[in-house]
Amino acid sequence: MGNGIAHVAAQSGFSVTLIDISEEALSRAIATITKNLGRMVAKGKISDEDQANTLARITTSTSIEQGVKQADVVIEAVNENFELKKKIFQTVEASVSEHTILASNTSSISITKLAGVTKRPEKVIGMHFFNPVPIMKLVEIVNGLDTSKEVYDVIEQLSKDMGKIPVPVNDFPGFVSNRVLMPMINEAIFCVHEGVATPENVDEVMKLGMAHPMGPLRLADFIGLDVCLDILNVLYDGFKDPKYRPCPLLVKMVDAGKLGDKSGQGFYNYSKN
Ligand code: CAA
Repeated sequence: MGNGIAHVAAQSGFSVTLIDISEEALSRAIATITKNLGRMVAKGKISDEDQANTLARITTSTSIEQGVKQADVVIEAVNENFELKKKIFQTVEASVSEHTILASNTSSISITKLAGVTKRPEKVIGMHFFNPVPIMKLVEIVNGLDTSKEVYDVIEQLSKDMGKIPVPVNDFPGFVSNRVLMPMINEAIFCVHEGVATPENVDEVMKLGMAHPMGPLRLADFIGLDVCLDILNVLYDGFKDPKYRPCPLLVKMVDAGKLGDKSGQGFYNYSKN
């Protein structure tokens, strides 16, 4: 999602430094942004000049310390791994100005817990984007226990300046988006697990009957089955309520490495053949 966030920020006029662990990952991100901007040029939504100016606003770095130095806002979008996020938040905090806001694009990890690993909990906030970031309008803004009103206001305005529609929520497991979405996806998986219907037919029911753009199983593949499982486990552990227990079929698929689009196989097959 990092490349999508960098794309919309740069397209909205902000100078962006995109940070990743290798030059190869950064080249892939720039190639994706270039391709998505190219799609908009082809449709006449932006000009060649807009595309060039957007790309010119993005610099890249493989060093967190160097990359964040000038930043007013840092948006972390790494894997859903608390220990990794903790390390990154602490590295970022040691390199930025006192006024810098630390935002996380986490889809389920507690903002309050992340804020607790820093010395500026009032400046830590959730800025949860949705895939594909250039298309989806929502930013779920997650207030941690100590997030200040001033920081919320800045992030609300930043989201609007990025062409998004911000919605404030408080820090509870899964926030609102995944507390509502993941039980639906999980129930769709139970339908397959119990032989109620095939994945194709579960998705047809939800697309045709409920006007969802993608069925829940296609969406689960798109999000990543490992990510869905992580989020369900956060809900299950956070609320201690069996209604969030992940379907055994989901667990089995993740164990088998069937992760959806990114692995080429999930509820559907995405291999080139
Ligand atoms: N990047 C950028 N743009 C993309 C894109 C991508 N990966 N994929 C599609 N698009 C654009 C297309 O260019 C097209 O743009 P225009 O409207 O300007 O022409 C538009 O999206 C629609 O694309 P298509 O016509 O090719 O395909 P579609 O109509 O089937 O739409 C979709 C594709 C937008 C992905 C749509 O199926 C959809 O909205 N799906 C649901 C997505 C969703 O629910 N996302 C949230 C996931 S949850 C999450 O992200 C967070 C979490 O915490 C788990």
